[in-house]
Amino acid sequence: MKRAFSGVQPTGNIHIGNYIGALKQFVELQNEMETVYCIVDLHSITVPQDPKELKEHTLDVAALYLSVGLDPEKSIIFIQSTVPAHTELSWILTCHSYTGELSRMTQFKDKSREKESAPAGLFTYPLLMAADILLYDAQFVPVGNDQKQHIELTRDIAERFNNKYGETFVVPQYKGTKVGARIMALDNPTNKMSKSAENEYSRISLLDSPIKVKKSIMKATTDSDNEIKFDEENKPGISNLLTIYSVFSGMEVGDIEKKYKGCGYGQLKKDLVEVVNDSLVDIQKKYNEIRKSEELIKILKEGREKAQTISQKTMERVKSKLGLVRF
Ligand code: TYM
Repeated sequence: MKRAFSGVQPTGNIHIGNYIGALKQFVELQNEMETVYCIVDLHSITVPQDPKELKEHTLDVAALYLSVGLDPEKSIIFIQSTVPAHTELSWILTCHSYTGELSRMTQFKDKSREKESAPAGLFTYPLLMAADILLYDAQFVPVGNDQKQHIELTRDIAERFNNKYGETFVVPQYKGTKVGARIMALDNPTNKMSKSAENEYSRISLLDSPIKVKKSIMKATTDSDNEIKFDEENKPGISNLLTIYSVFSGMEVGDIEKKYKGCGYGQLKKDLVEVVNDSLVDIQKKYNEIRKSEELIKILKEGREKAQTISQKTMERVKSKLGLVRF
């Protein structure tokens, strides 16, 4: 049976980029293979966090996992820091990787740009991510395309380890969606939609009110020729809106182009507000039911138990290959 592993950081509100690039795939894969999904709280402390907020955000993401359709009967859902093997394997991988390859990670370069010194955790971040994936023998990693380079590094490290010590790790593959592997910011469609951008109208969060969704879409940057056509290079703004429309409505982009032929951007935006709000209403209803329920903690505890069982087996294998004494 094949297995997929992925994770989301509990930093702020999850946005539709996270949903389209990652969460939607998580849900679809549940019916195709074994699936293990984590809330990666240890990754989020690579930048300063307010402890109270971190706790709340971690449970928020867990509740959102369930609200978008993850089923604890089908998927293992757990919090990264509750399974110690993640940090344990991360150290071992740190000893099998090089500062040169870590320096080439574009996310590290972006986050440390213009800083004289960056937190060491930001630099070793991809190794904790590699540990997450390799612990579960995952063949597939469903993520947005901003994570592709990290998966490449995970593959390199897994192959290097296997070559040195014999078959130990499954070498995983990036799994991106056909439509929407990179959703762009609404205010500037040359940047990716991000949780940390200053302008809150640059993104739509899954828990946004209908009014906030409306404002964000109506303000979205488009070009001035008013022709509704998918052309990422020359019309990135309208192409981004078409992608979002397609994902939330289930319509093909070509059919949406046809539907709006001769109409202006205003009409498309107005309808898109409705399409997005209709989907978010369902997610938010479920979220409000589950977020404060005892069921949520129960699911996370059960997830932790299952994750421990799988990850401990991997650690036994790794330690034995390395010659670390066990008794
Ligand atoms: P994070 O928390 O930044 O993002 C969660 C997921 O959302 C995807 N994503 C996007 N997809 C499309 N368009 C966008 N604008 C967009 N923004 C974000 C991300 O690609 C990701 O899939 N390092 C990871 C978390 C992680 C992880 C892992 C993922 C830690 N360990 C192991 C997979 C496997 C991250 O920061 O994702």
